[in-house]
Amino acid sequence: MNKFSVRIFLYLFVLMVAKSANAASQQVLPGEVWRDNRGQQIQAHGGGILHWKDTYYWVGEDRTQSNDPEKRYVACYASKDLVHWIFRGQILALADPEHLGPNWVLERPKLFHNSRTGKFVLYFHLDDGHYKLARVGIAVSERIDGNYTYVKSFRPLDQESRDIGQFIDDDGAAYLIFESRPTKGFFIAKLSDDYMAVDKQISFINAPLEGGALVHYNGLYYVLGSHMTGWRPNPNVYATAPSLSGPWTEFKGIAPAEANTYQAQSAMLLKIIGSKETSVIFMGDIWKPRTIWDSRYLWMPMEIGNGELHLPPPRPWLMNVETGSTTIK
Ligand code: GAL
Repeated sequence: MNKFSVRIFLYLFVLMVAKSANAASQQVLPGEVWRDNRGQQIQAHGGGILHWKDTYYWVGEDRTQSNDPEKRYVACYASKDLVHWIFRGQILALADPEHLGPNWVLERPKLFHNSRTGKFVLYFHLDDGHYKLARVGIAVSERIDGNYTYVKSFRPLDQESRDIGQFIDDDGAAYLIFESRPTKGFFIAKLSDDYMAVDKQISFINAPLEGGALVHYNGLYYVLGSHMTGWRPNPNVYATAPSLSGPWTEFKGIAPAEANTYQAQSAMLLKIIGSKETSVIFMGDIWKPRTIWDSRYLWMPMEIGNGELHLPPPRPWLMNVETGSTTIK
């Protein structure tokens, strides 16, 4: 090969490598408008993710402006790479199920798959317009993308329950995290065998926090939550424990207090186990209460390990679900 063809060969090689890296790694833009395959802004606020059969399903509050104001909606999106999301439909379009009255609330839907019954069970916070009811609602479906049938509402462990979070441990056991104001803390509770009830208290964490999220990483449990300031952001905090039942450490900030969680509120911690690495993604909501449909998402890979959990400042980043690696640009 002469010098010229070596150069051409090298050029083509670099181009090829760049292209394949690009195809495998996908870019996330925290805080920007995130569009689905239809070009519409993703409506999955206060949401959760279920990883099922090689696909990620993102469900959340659908606050589309043209929705029927009498109903509450949950939308479902599917993705293989966590970046490109296909709209799978409004899996729940619920009319007031229990005479809750004007401005009734359905928030923070979380989806579980029960392998014994084969059913998909959707949990959500159900409330009246004053947030006085403080219950959990559930709806079920044979198919992941609906339509879900409303089943019932209840107070888990007979406690008031507002913000909820979901957690699946490495052994497949499913848990609900819920905030309980009268007890000034939040609960981690195990779901019943068929996921149609909340069975057993595993932990009560004596800290009045909401937006609860949990991850099990390298033998340690990390719990995350926000303070209770409604739609306004606040410095989110975390604690760790060697077991789900504790003992839990004191809470510490996930970012400098003045950063105010970069205007976001925790919704979930998503663990991606790739062929090379395991990453943990902070999924947060940047709420815009006056134009709630335009609320944004702040997803960032967390710095995690040895009892430390840190949310880096938002920047575009690349996700590779196959290798599990994330690269902040
Ligand atoms: C937040 C909560 C949201 C919503 C909001 C209403 O604290 O996390 O899910 O309930 O309050 O003010």
